[in-house]
Amino acid sequence: MPPVPETSARPEDPAVANDYDSFAEAYSAENEASLLNAYYERPAMLALAGDVAGRRILDAGCGSGPLFAALRDRGAIVAGFDKSAGMVELARRRLGDGADLQVADLGGPLPFPDGRFDDVIASLVLHYLEDWGPALAELRRVLKPGGRLLVSVEHPFAITLMHREAGREADYFATSNRTEDYTFSGQTALLSLWDRPLHAMAGAFTAAGFRITVISEPEPAPAARKLFPDQLAATPRFLAFLFFVLQCAG
Ligand SMILES: C[S@@+](CC[C@H](N)C(=O)[O-])C[C@H]1O[C@@H](n2cnc3c(N)ncnc32)[C@H](O)[C@@H]1O
Repeated sequence: MPPVPETSARPEDPAVANDYDSFAEAYSAENEASLLNAYYERPAMLALAGDVAGRRILDAGCGSGPLFAALRDRGAIVAGFDKSAGMVELARRRLGDGADLQVADLGGPLPFPDGRFDDVIASLVLHYLEDWGPALAELRRVLKPGGRLLVSVEHPFAITLMHREAGREADYFATSNRTEDYTFSGQTALLSLWDRPLHAMAGAFTAAGFRITVISEPEPAPAARKLFPDQLAATPRFLAFLFFVLQCAG
């Protein structure tokens, strides 16, 4: 089972969940130094992105901007948006007044012209959406022909394992809602996520006009084994998120 943050199942109304404004500071602090973000998701995403110098990149669901900052440091021209005004405010504090940051909802119309970006990166955000169709169509619209969409989401097999090890029913093949308490820097936060199997992800990508060029199940950064020995000791191979590199087809 992946060492996910402490969670507990709670059959709450998903409509009241994902209020990142109410736990923005706590989430951002957790993300800054955690195994899952700082030593796993972010380095893996940066490695998949490769040499980004001079590329126009959209950070979709940018949170408080740690990936935006790392891409900008590597010479990319970055824009970011997030649904949470609180997270965008933290990103502005990190990145400065001149940073191209907006509050916008992935799933609705995005405030960018057609063909604006070489790459879009959607780190740990698509799994908040039940229907990926409208979001993927918008992300494709703002990409240049041949542009790339890089995605990370909860790994569906890791989620199924987590449920089974907790003694809960788990249907890998279902697209299903999971509403749970997470703990970020000591603060409880209710998250509502949509789990779906690999074939449903692949189907959504191809239906939206993307070609899958890479599927990745990376290892954490080398420093992680020393920094998080207890969390990693029991796992010869680590599994928490699933990564894709997609290219606009045709
Ligand atoms: C797990 S955090 C990841 C933040 C950032 N991408 C990172 O990896 O550091 C998820 C982020 O997605 C944002 N988010 C959730 N649903 C969204 C939506 N429909 N549109 C835009 N952002 C959304 C949240 O506000 C939050 O900042």
